[in-house]
Amino acid sequence: MNITWVLGLPTGHESGTFLALDLGGTNLRVCKVELHGPSSAVSQKHTLVQEQYKLPSEIKTSTAEELWAYVAEYLEKFMKKMGLLEHYNREKPMPLGFTFSYPAIQYRIDHGILQTWTKGFDIKGVEGEDVAAQLRHAIERKKLPIELICLANDTVGAMVASAYNDPETIIGAIFGTGCNAAYMQTLSKECIPKIDLKDEEWEQLKSDDGSKSTIAINCEYGAFDNAHRVLPRTSFDEQVDAESPRPGEQAFEKLSAGLYLGEIFRLVMVQLADKGLVFKNQDREKLRKPYSIDTGFLSQIEDDESPKFNKTYDLFKETLDLSPSDQEIELSRRLAELIAVRGARLCACGIAAICTKEGIEKGHVAADGSVANKHPKFKRRWAKALGEILNWHQTDEKQKNGGPIKITSAEDGSGVGVAVIAAMTLQRKSQGNTIGMF
Ligand code: BGC
Repeated sequence: MNITWVLGLPTGHESGTFLALDLGGTNLRVCKVELHGPSSAVSQKHTLVQEQYKLPSEIKTSTAEELWAYVAEYLEKFMKKMGLLEHYNREKPMPLGFTFSYPAIQYRIDHGILQTWTKGFDIKGVEGEDVAAQLRHAIERKKLPIELICLANDTVGAMVASAYNDPETIIGAIFGTGCNAAYMQTLSKECIPKIDLKDEEWEQLKSDDGSKSTIAINCEYGAFDNAHRVLPRTSFDEQVDAESPRPGEQAFEKLSAGLYLGEIFRLVMVQLADKGLVFKNQDREKLRKPYSIDTGFLSQIEDDESPKFNKTYDLFKETLDLSPSDQEIELSRRLAELIAVRGARLCACGIAAICTKEGIEKGHVAADGSVANKHPKFKRRWAKALGEILNWHQTDEKQKNGGPIKITSAEDGSGVGVAVIAAMTLQRKSQGNTIGMF
């Protein structure tokens, strides 16, 4: 679990203009975010313009120099396109919030040492290094008028962006290519022994009105059970792990996140085909290609209500060049369901663990990510599992309307969220509270 130095949730009054950079699994996104602050109605609380660039797949296995040069180039392109180079200079740089969706130890808010790449990334020269410093160098090399103010995990961004509009937000969660969540923890020596501060610094962190201060914690629970002491794994799970760029890492994520669900499905099908049980006498070359099936494939199978499941047939034909029989389609539907149900129930366990540990009984879990947003049955399965773990019985008042802890669609964490964090950080700095900063 990583300390993030995001102190407290936003008031909704934060304002200013910021650059937001999001290095995601498939895209690089650059945004200009204007936060309008207190006076505006909810629908106009911010304005955002953005450009999205597809990350070339070679980048994922390149080097630190190549990665950051690529990122700086697109920051420059964006600033030019939006006419921002005319408004900012080296004396008055544009503040930047950086969403970095990988596990990073943060000794300060504008700093993050990458612990390990996840989600299939394998870029050399970044693990064990401060990614904020590497980005800063690339920005300096290009002489861009940008100042990196904060680095934030996507889960923290999702929580903050959602809390900016919805005060009932308790957790930010990503159920997408990877899985993870962030929550607010009481800021005290007892609750967070990992924080190493002097007594006078603890004093400084106390809020003015005497109420308890809080800090966002990035759980990084995708790495839960890396030692394999708790969760049972199938031979297919073991294979996914063994053939990944980082075997032994992200054990929980490899059972539950979008990047892996399609691959588990594929491995089962390959084994059945090798045993001569499915797709006999058909060309299985495409099926043999690792990661040729994504989570969207499973979602579409589960979503198919066409007579005789024609859509599933077409999907197999288009994606894998296979012609499934009626029985093979039925088998695929059952398998897609098993894999997705297990994933959704594990995702509920992560959130239930936070709620149980913190004694949280109600509120909104602001969720983002392709599985949460695009899988037709994910949210329902997740909510049912959460109710079971937290003992909201079917007849109980609590279970009505989906229970007191609800999954909501997160606001744009990697755009608006990180801009709000940058605004909170600058505000804190102007008030002289610079612990965990600069
Ligand atoms: C990363 C997390 C991230 C999650 C969702 C995981 O692989 O370790 O930092 O929040 O993916 O994007």
